[in-house]
Amino acid sequence: MTYKRLKEMDLSGKSVLLRLDLNAPIQDGIVTNKERLLRSLPTLDYILESGASLIIMSHLGRPEEDNQFQKEFSLKPVVKELENLLSCSIPLYSLDEIEAKKNKIQTIIALENTRFYIGEKTNNSDLSRRFSNLADIFVMDAFATSHRAHASTTGVITFSQDACAGLLLDEELNALTKVKQNGNNSIAILGGSKISTKLGLIDSLSESMDKVILGGGIANTCIAAQGFNIGKSLIEESMLKEAEQLSKNPKIIIPQTVIVSSSPDIPGRETSIDKISDEESIFDISPEALLQIADIITQAKTILWNGPIGFFEKDNFDKGTMKLADMIAVSSGYTVAGGGDTISAANKAGVLDKIDYVSTAGGAFLEFIEGRTLPAIKALKEK
Ligand code: 3PG
Repeated sequence: MTYKRLKEMDLSGKSVLLRLDLNAPIQDGIVTNKERLLRSLPTLDYILESGASLIIMSHLGRPEEDNQFQKEFSLKPVVKELENLLSCSIPLYSLDEIEAKKNKIQTIIALENTRFYIGEKTNNSDLSRRFSNLADIFVMDAFATSHRAHASTTGVITFSQDACAGLLLDEELNALTKVKQNGNNSIAILGGSKISTKLGLIDSLSESMDKVILGGGIANTCIAAQGFNIGKSLIEESMLKEAEQLSKNPKIIIPQTVIVSSSPDIPGRETSIDKISDEESIFDISPEALLQIADIITQAKTILWNGPIGFFEKDNFDKGTMKLADMIAVSSGYTVAGGGDTISAANKAGVLDKIDYVSTAGGAFLEFIEGRTLPAIKALKEK
């Protein structure tokens, strides 16, 4: 079963409601990472050029869902940035205001944060209907929120007259499907702090891929579960049993030498995992451990990367992640990266444009790769 795509739709003279994921970091009223906005531009341009009138909607952060405007969660800074990128004005309205305007929308307007509205997160049918009644066609392009069964991502599809996938959502699904249908020599590299959020993913990737290389806090927990003293390293105590199981899987690779230090502000020393003192923490993978996985990475035909493998935000401990990013960048295999921290790390290494596909999604990326059903995609297919 598939879904309708934007380019199959006759948009001329129609009104379109477009769900984007404009959930971008904002500091002092300025969008600090425009990636999700930039990646939404092809769909925005396509709809605007087709002669349709357009209402954009997105969530931003996690505000109180109480029908009240909350300034700190307003889409205003994001919409301002979009105005610059599209060189046009995009008035921002509440749901009531847009409903009052029905059929009088000229070119492009935006709806305030969908998470202000009661019923968004419970996928309430009244709110879903209100959204769907705003336009003739609903376009879902928020891949990064497609794992949420919310009124603006899922319910709205059920009630809309017609619905289709936007260009970004389709592109994301194609790229991530390609990784899942990998052939021989496929590897995953998973880092980040928590096993708990990635256990299902590690399990499913260790079935579908040839090797799964672990780093970061995830690897620390596995090292502790094997009975080594990991000093003050970041681990997840509650996951030690699961980590012990993972450590026994021959497809899973855990670094045997690491960089440790008594503080992230003090340069570290290289050591094997059985010689860490009580005062030290693991902050990075060692050059030797990287050398040991270099062949696996070089020979891989498919590489999936999610999560930094060290404390890359600190220059003292960014070497492992930076070197890994370089290795992935020069790989001749098909390389895919996803998740906010992974993108920041690839950006710091200056290799973002050398990775074949960079997903805009975090949670949705993990859930899709793990093989879970994404409610918004399911709704689109059933439409
Ligand atoms: C994300 O940043 O992963 C998406 O925008 C979803 O946000 P959420 O985790 O708050 O639902």
